[in-house]
Amino acid sequence: MNIPFPLKSTIDARRSARSYKMTAVNKDIIESIKDFANAMAVPFDHSVEIKFFTADPTKTLYTIMKSPPDNVAFVAETDSISISKVGFIGELLILFAESKGISTCWYGHYKLSELERLLPHLQSAEQLKESNMGYGYSKGITTGRRAICITPIGYYEDGGLRLVDRITKKTSSFKRKEVKELLVNPNDYDKLSDDILYALDLGRKAPSAGNSQMWQFAFEDDFKTITVAMPVGYKHFKWEHPNVDIGICACHIWLGLIDKGYAPKVTVNEDSDRAVWRLSIE
Ligand SMILES: Cc1cc2nc3c(=O)[nH]c(=O)nc-3n(C[C@H](O)[C@H](O)[C@H](O)COP(=O)(O)O)c2cc1C
Repeated sequence: MNIPFPLKSTIDARRSARSYKMTAVNKDIIESIKDFANAMAVPFDHSVEIKFFTADPTKTLYTIMKSPPDNVAFVAETDSISISKVGFIGELLILFAESKGISTCWYGHYKLSELERLLPHLQSAEQLKESNMGYGYSKGITTGRRAICITPIGYYEDGGLRLVDRITKKTSSFKRKEVKELLVNPNDYDKLSDDILYALDLGRKAPSAGNSQMWQFAFEDDFKTITVAMPVGYKHFKWEHPNVDIGICACHIWLGLIDKGYAPKVTVNEDSDRAVWRLSIE
């Protein structure tokens, strides 16, 4: 599997950016991101769409910051597997953009009616009503094919950060749990090979909504298979699609295994209302 960017350093460099210059992404770069999106090879079937759209320089879409001109929406069905595949595929695109010097931020909370105006994609007006307070998420069940998350793609504007974001930037956003804390069975830690630990280290660095890092790792087949899932019954208090975050984490682990020379076999299945990813090496 040939991934056209350095894996660890790109993962280490990525941060959510919440302040952008109001300038369009350089033409060659945006074309390279679109080409990557079109040709993206992931190790599973899917029907996730990566839709590029332009937004106005207002705070309507993201509400906490002005939209830069270029943005991407990840559109899928709302079953747990499709939702989780959004995370895997979206993160691969986000990391590619990062490797081109482009900043991003996963957004699960955005104004869905504004997105629909900029990028008509819903099948019925009912889908707008399902979302809570007009944002892209709801506390209830959403249906149909729809944007799950969106991200700006643009140039980071350092001076534009609000004080609160500067503080967050220095503290919570960089913080991650240690691998050992993420194991279903912490006693497994001493049995893990350096390669598996390397992959899990990239996994723990994944972004998650509210930095909640609720993924858990377990092992099968004598430690040749890593499973990634959220705990059974997990609910985030304001993010309805935590399976996205699990897919993002699975993507990082997959990249870690590739970086160590493996061609991991990847499956994702539903179990107890969650997406459960399995990444196996020989
Ligand atoms: C699925 C998902 C949804 C997110 N939604 C939002 C959001 O609506 N608003 C926001 O400001 N940040 C959002 N984030 C960004 C997270 O807060 C951020 O990834 C986390 O705090 C870790 O920081 P980092 O990305 O800089 O490593 C989201 C992240 C993920 C993975």
